Amino acid sequence: KRIILIGPPGCGKGTQSPFIKEEYCLCHLATGDMLREAVAKQTKLGLEAKQAMEAGQLVSDDLVVGIINDALKRPACAKGFVLDGFPRTVVQAEKLSAMLAKHGQEINNVFNFDIPDSVLEERITGRWVHLASGRSYHSKFAPPKVAGIDDVTGEPLVQRKDDNVEVLRKRLDAFHTQTVPVIEYYTEKHKVTTLEANAPTSEVSRQIERALGF
Ligand code: AP5
Ligand code: ZN
Repeated sequence: KRIILIGPPGCGKGTQSPFIKEEYCLCHLATGDMLREAVAKQTKLGLEAKQAMEAGQLVSDDLVVGIINDALKRPACAKGFVLDGFPRTVVQAEKLSAMLAKHGQEINNVFNFDIPDSVLEERITGRWVHLASGRSYHSKFAPPKVAGIDDVTGEPLVQRKDDNVEVLRKRLDAFHTQTVPVIEYYTEKHKVTTLEANAPTSEVSRQIERALGF
C-alpha cells in the first residue's frame, strides 16, 4: 500500500500515522519530522530549511523532493509507505508520480483530513512532542502519563517553534493556497477519501480502517 495523508496543521496526520504504519507494516515518511531532525542536527539541509519552517512557509520543492527521493530507496519502503506532509504542492505531487512511475508503482489511497480551521488553534497550542521519535501528545486531548515527559523514553517533551497562533496563521495560508490544489490533483485521479477529522482519534482511525478494507 502507498498512502498519502493531506490536511491542515493539527488535523491529525502525525497522530494517525503510527496506527496505519503498524496495521500494514509500512514505512512512515514525515517530511516535517525529517526537516526538524535536520534543523536540530544543524545539517546543511537543516540550515536551508530552518527559516522558512519557523516563518510557517513551505521549504523549496527541490529540497523536499530530494528527501523523499532518497527515502523511497530504503529497503523498508519497498512494501509501501505512509506519506505524512508530502506532497503539499502540485509540483511535488507531479514529481512523486514520476518517481513512482519509474518503478511501475502508484499511489493507492489519499486521505483528505477535513476539519474546520477554527478547531486547529487549540490542537496546535496544546501539542507537546518528543522530537527524536516524532511522538505527539496534547495537554488536554492526549496527555502523557507524566506532564512534560515522553511515555516511552522518559525524555522531556517540547513545544514546536512553529506551534504558536501567529505562525499557525501562516501555515494555514500556505495550506489553503498551495496544498488544497493537491487534493484536487488527486481527486481527478479518483483516489481521495475524505475523513471527518473533527472527531475523536479512535473514530478517525475507524474511518481509515473502513476505507482500507480491514
Ligand atoms: P509538518 O510537520 O508537516 O506540519 P503541519 O503540516 O503543519 O502538520 P502538523 O504536524 O502541525 O499537524 P498533524 O496533522 O501532524 O497533527 P498531529 O497529529 O500532531 O511541517 C512543518 C513545516 O515543515 C512546514 O510548515 C514547512 O515549513 C515544512 N515542510 C514539511 N513538509 C513540507 C513539504 N512537503 N514541502 C514544503 N515544506 C514542508 O495533531 C496535532 C495535535 O492535536 C496533537 O497534540 C494531537 O495529540 C492532537 N490531536 C490529533 N488528533 C486529534 C483528535 N482526533 N482529537 C483531539 N486531538 C487530536
Ligand atoms: Zn505532523
